[in-house]
Amino acid sequence: MYIARTIPELRDHLGRYRRPAFVPTMGNLHDGHLALVRQAKPLGDVAVASIFVNRLQFLPHEDFDTYPRTWDSDCEKLRAAGCDVLFAPDERALYPEPQTCKVHPDGALADILEGHFRPGFFVGVCTVVMKLFACVQPGVAVFGKKDYQQLMVIRHMVRQFALPIEVVGGETRRADDGLALSSRNGYLGDSARVEAVALSRALQSMAAAVRAGERDFGAIEARAMQALSARGWQPDYMVLRRRSDLQAPTAGEPLVALVALAAARLGSTRLIDNLEIDGVERLTAPGTAA
Ligand code: PAF
Repeated sequence: MYIARTIPELRDHLGRYRRPAFVPTMGNLHDGHLALVRQAKPLGDVAVASIFVNRLQFLPHEDFDTYPRTWDSDCEKLRAAGCDVLFAPDERALYPEPQTCKVHPDGALADILEGHFRPGFFVGVCTVVMKLFACVQPGVAVFGKKDYQQLMVIRHMVRQFALPIEVVGGETRRADDGLALSSRNGYLGDSARVEAVALSRALQSMAAAVRAGERDFGAIEARAMQALSARGWQPDYMVLRRRSDLQAPTAGEPLVALVALAAARLGSTRLIDNLEIDGVERLTAPGTAA
């Protein structure tokens, strides 16, 4: 695996390839990331990953300084997953001057949910992803569905700027008990780790209610919020949204594919998760029987 620390090193090395397949990460890699690398590999002629903890997407009170940096094991895992090139710039290499030119994604998609609770987050994400795209010039890029809204925001950015990049979503990997794999799971102590599965279970209950024909989405969401709060969580949101634009389905919409999305804090650890709800394409107006 070739490791590039600077943009010129990376460009020089990638010059010989036609279609890099790219997986951007912030390191502290788990099986979810490695599955994305394995998914990306056959989609291009060289598999490229990046590790860069992007200061721009952290709010001042968030965990930028303590975000786990696990360089040696990350390199080992990437090699084993078949990664050919790792781009791992330091802050001076990627942001040699203050990054005052930023990408502001569409507010309808980016100022809701994560963007509402973490203002500026998607500006930071889009700015670094645009810059990483400019460095790697991938033909295809793979992003995990675990960060469902991020995947949608990036797809929209790529479309709006007509970037010649195919954006592919990778399925969420889960631990045996159903907890979505995330770098932040490492913050959970033993008892919190056991409790953490309640988030994916709450999403399952929301999906089950929809599948059973319940159409009062507000009531389903409120029940999920209450159930988690009663267990000691502080939920930011538990919502049912249209997959196409992450807006709430409107009354009388005949056909819709849904996703349940959740973000909640357990102690000081904030977890997010989501679940696509299949097989309930035909919805009647919220509040009416199925
Ligand atoms: O999903 C992530 O790890 C980050 O948001 C990304 C896409 C690598 C940008 O820093």
